[in-house]
Amino acid sequence: MQAPVHVVILAAGLGTRMKSRRAKVLHEAGGLPLIQHVVRTALAVAPPERIFVVVGCQADQVRAAVERHGVAFVPQPEPKGTAHALLVGREQLEPLGGLLTVLYGDCPLLTPATLLRLIAEQQASDAAATVITTRLEDPSGYGRVIRDEHGAILAIVEQKAAGPAELAVNEINSGIYCFRSELLWRYLPEIRPDNPAGEYYLTDLVAILRREGHKVRALLLEDSTEVLGVNTRIDLAAADALLRARKTRELMLEGVTIRRPETVTVDCDVLIGPDSLIEPFVQILGRSVIGRDCHIGTGSILKDATLGERVDVRPYTLIEQARLEDDSRAGPFARIRPGTHLGLGVHVGNFVELKNARLGPRSKANHLAYLGDAEIGADCNVGAGTITCNYDGERKHRTRIGDRVFVGSNATLVAPIELADDCYVGAGSVITEPVPPEALALGRARQVNKEGWVRKRRATTEP
Ligand code: UD1
Ligand code: CA
Repeated sequence: MQAPVHVVILAAGLGTRMKSRRAKVLHEAGGLPLIQHVVRTALAVAPPERIFVVVGCQADQVRAAVERHGVAFVPQPEPKGTAHALLVGREQLEPLGGLLTVLYGDCPLLTPATLLRLIAEQQASDAAATVITTRLEDPSGYGRVIRDEHGAILAIVEQKAAGPAELAVNEINSGIYCFRSELLWRYLPEIRPDNPAGEYYLTDLVAILRREGHKVRALLLEDSTEVLGVNTRIDLAAADALLRARKTRELMLEGVTIRRPETVTVDCDVLIGPDSLIEPFVQILGRSVIGRDCHIGTGSILKDATLGERVDVRPYTLIEQARLEDDSRAGPFARIRPGTHLGLGVHVGNFVELKNARLGPRSKANHLAYLGDAEIGADCNVGAGTITCNYDGERKHRTRIGDRVFVGSNATLVAPIELADDCYVGAGSVITEPVPPEALALGRARQVNKEGWVRKRRATTEP
């Protein structure tokens, strides 16, 4: 029988080196808080009730970021070091037995496959623990893995406590371990804060286990990017870049064309259908979902947007919390704000701003318009410069437009207002009264031509 696996994620520190008021694990990479990545990886190897997150600094916010997964929490009132972070969970964790996998909340790139490998190696081994290590060209900041002449692991020495010979070692501790729970709890209390930082270092356990006659094995990773730990904003940028490169790679393998992928920002939870084309310098964020055969033009930013199939988003268009149905088109330079719905085949052109607006199938607003709190039917044409005046200084009001309505250029529709099916609004009209079906509404001063006016004026002004 295989030993049950539990996971503890250490996430109680502030992260002093971030120079932030926000707890480090709440900073985002790949569009998600660091802690979110780590919890998701843990969920690949254990059910939520076997995952424990140690929280301290901004505990409420850290909990809020991951509690929907159903994981358990352990409070660490004061961050006294990584060993102390485990000790505070002793009462809850020791009786569970089996294997205890320890992850650090600032290590967002670890993949489920590697974590499964770590656990499998420990399951199959006689060692007290297995630790993931890797070799780095620049190991500074990490704990160094010290081995004897036969390659057996003797200790992990922290940067701050290391001498010159130890500092020269380039094999580092990832902070990802799988322990035999019983031995962990037996020896953890022996760790003393006898280092320059005065912290209880979990890494000291390695030398203690060794002293007590137990082995610690390493799983040495070739790909060191998986164990990048985020301590500074420079690490955060590196983690973000790696996560996004992973995401665009995944999408390309699934059939999405991405031009100059290194310039494209796609959040981890975004879905994009095959044969869609993403141009350079596009950002697709949040929970955006894009169907097949879509085209997203350069410089566009989509956040929590839902696009059907064959949607054409032309360059420099902003779309947030809006839905664009099949064959619709937006931009260039359109701004589509929350609550907007573009029906099948709708066209929205340059410098059109939409907010909480619904446009029915095949309707068009091709140039320079503001349509807010508006319901527009099918096959309408909204002329250039049309404005829905939805705000009276106190409240917002709706504009309702039926099917097959033609709104001439530069019309001002003062809401609340209703334009019935098949009506026309003359260009330049200010519309304040409802327009009945099939009527032409004109709300502007009649044109006057003063014949010969120029000639008369010249006669009076010239000497
Ligand atoms: C740690 C390791 C180091 C390793 C590196 C890998 C120790 C002593 N050192 O160093 O060997 O190379 O990670 O990235 O373990 N935390 C708590 N409570 C605390 C202290 C920390 O929950 O009291 C959490 C932090 O929130 C963080 C994680 O533990 O998520 C790691 O702490 P951090 O201070 O970043 O450790 P490093 O100095 O990076
Ligand atoms: Ca760290």
